[in-house]
Amino acid sequence: MCGIVGVLGKHEAAPLLVEALKRLEYRGYDSAGIATVNEGKLDRRRAVGKLVNLSDLLVHNPIAGKSGIGHTRWATHGGPSVKNAHPHQAGDVAVVHNGIIENFMNLRAELNEKNINYETDTDTEAVVLLTKYFLSQGLSPTEAAKKTISRLTGAFALAFLFQGEDDLIVVARQGSPLVIGHGDGEIYVGSDAIALAHLTNKITYLNEGDFAQISRKKIQVEDKNGIIVNRKIQNINLKSAKADKAGYKHFMAKEIAEQPLTLATTLENYLHEDPCDIILPKNNLKLTQIESLTMVACGTAFYAALTAKYWFEKIARVRVEVDVASEFRYREPPILKETTAVFVSQSGETADTLAALRYMSSHNANIISIVNVIGSSIARESNLVLPLHVGAEIGVASTKAFTAQLTVLALLALKIAKAKATITENQYQKFLDELKRLPEVISQALCLEPNIQKIAGELASYNDVIFLGRGAMYPLAMEGALKLKEISYIHAEGYPSGELKHGPIALIDKKVPVVVIAPKDTLFDKSVSNMQEVMARSGKIILISCESGLELAGHGSWATITMPDVSEFTAPIIYAVPMQLLAYHTALSKGTDVDQPRNLAKSVTVE
Ligand code: G6P
Repeated sequence: MCGIVGVLGKHEAAPLLVEALKRLEYRGYDSAGIATVNEGKLDRRRAVGKLVNLSDLLVHNPIAGKSGIGHTRWATHGGPSVKNAHPHQAGDVAVVHNGIIENFMNLRAELNEKNINYETDTDTEAVVLLTKYFLSQGLSPTEAAKKTISRLTGAFALAFLFQGEDDLIVVARQGSPLVIGHGDGEIYVGSDAIALAHLTNKITYLNEGDFAQISRKKIQVEDKNGIIVNRKIQNINLKSAKADKAGYKHFMAKEIAEQPLTLATTLENYLHEDPCDIILPKNNLKLTQIESLTMVACGTAFYAALTAKYWFEKIARVRVEVDVASEFRYREPPILKETTAVFVSQSGETADTLAALRYMSSHNANIISIVNVIGSSIARESNLVLPLHVGAEIGVASTKAFTAQLTVLALLALKIAKAKATITENQYQKFLDELKRLPEVISQALCLEPNIQKIAGELASYNDVIFLGRGAMYPLAMEGALKLKEISYIHAEGYPSGELKHGPIALIDKKVPVVVIAPKDTLFDKSVSNMQEVMARSGKIILISCESGLELAGHGSWATITMPDVSEFTAPIIYAVPMQLLAYHTALSKGTDVDQPRNLAKSVTVE
């Protein structure tokens, strides 16, 4: 996966490439590297770990040249090492790659027969070795790159730089996104428009199968059939300033704290006052005819979709299937006529979610996407985009995007419920009032931080934690467990409270704390019974409920978190806050890298 960039500039390329890579670090931070051509000579620098290591290297060992390519890596084939870091180079060609070359083993065998041997553990090396081979056969750089690409299967965005060519970058995309940026006498390429936001807002999105030969004065794009095409330049309104931590220790802390504001902005963008109503962007949805929805997502976005199932089914009487994107398309699910599918993705670039969307599109489904990044691939391939409006989310562990995803999904459920008359106007207005209270109630929940910090300090010394929830709190239990795993590296599992007795209860002893999420809702008594089953087996309970819930059931708990009184409808959004704070402070106690935890990436652009 990874992020790639390229520059054909008027000034030194290295600082521009590094700044662009900073903006792509959300795609991976296992290693980084750049290559330049300076007076015809190809050179490169690579460093393991975060981008800052590459920057340090460049201070001591600078690299000259106005043309260059760069890469930030999330390791797929071959561990993080300098040897495996991009750009890969063989002879007169250097390449950066986002994606996976699936036939690299066959290509490797073929190259071995020609006595061309591998030096790295990567799939990408096949690309440079093949290109080098075609160059040695007398092909021009562009022809050699094109012939190489015709031999590749898998998903990729590639940028090629050649020795002796100060005014040439060749790029291709198949399955992974790639954009071209237009500057004043300069041309840029990048995995997304955000990478180039400090350089230009004039962006050309390449289509699937496009191949482009780029010089400072001319860009020639060929489509997947080799026909020269004109891809339009769009003015993209992106803030070029990189988000800062605003005094917080981590982006994650800032993003948790700003949720009252971000949710207010989300609501503002969808609610019309007087009379209060939900306004969706212009669309062709026949809301009254929606009988079922297929929802697909990954990670935290998947748990948002799972939570929304409870709203769509109970309130809008719409049947909902929710799938993890990586499991969806290979099952080849039959898609009924007039299917509406909802894809939830913060980045809008997650490869599995995008692939599932394309499967649905190819079966003529109506595509709704809920994304944070408006110009993302998922947004651009949807019939209706419902943006989150929460600003850039930098922390790898998703927080403000999750609560906004839930809010937008709740709004969509209510809009459908109203259209289908499964709720009365009075009920509709009451639900809207509850949503409008979110910023205020989330602020109250944030005030619980000191108590949660204390509990987290204790939790940090355990190796396993179980999260339990019932109804809409069950997906939240899984999200709470995911948050803890992601940033504190503590093994955690989320279970439906009622399911514990069917196996997982065997795990319970003094060494496995159990977080019970039990708002005082219709399922409260049942949740308490399940909690008692854990207590009876010496389980250590952290009970999260409101004051009256804790009065009734808090006795005997190891710790309690007293939440504000909230409605059953908005509880999943508000109870997300203690999940976030618990994970954050546990990670702080353990001293892990909160914003960029090991092995993870913010956006996963490989299958
Ligand atoms: C990665 C991130 C998760 C995120 C998931 C889905 O795994 O580390 O935090 O939930 O991708 O990302 P998306 O951008 O599609 O919401």
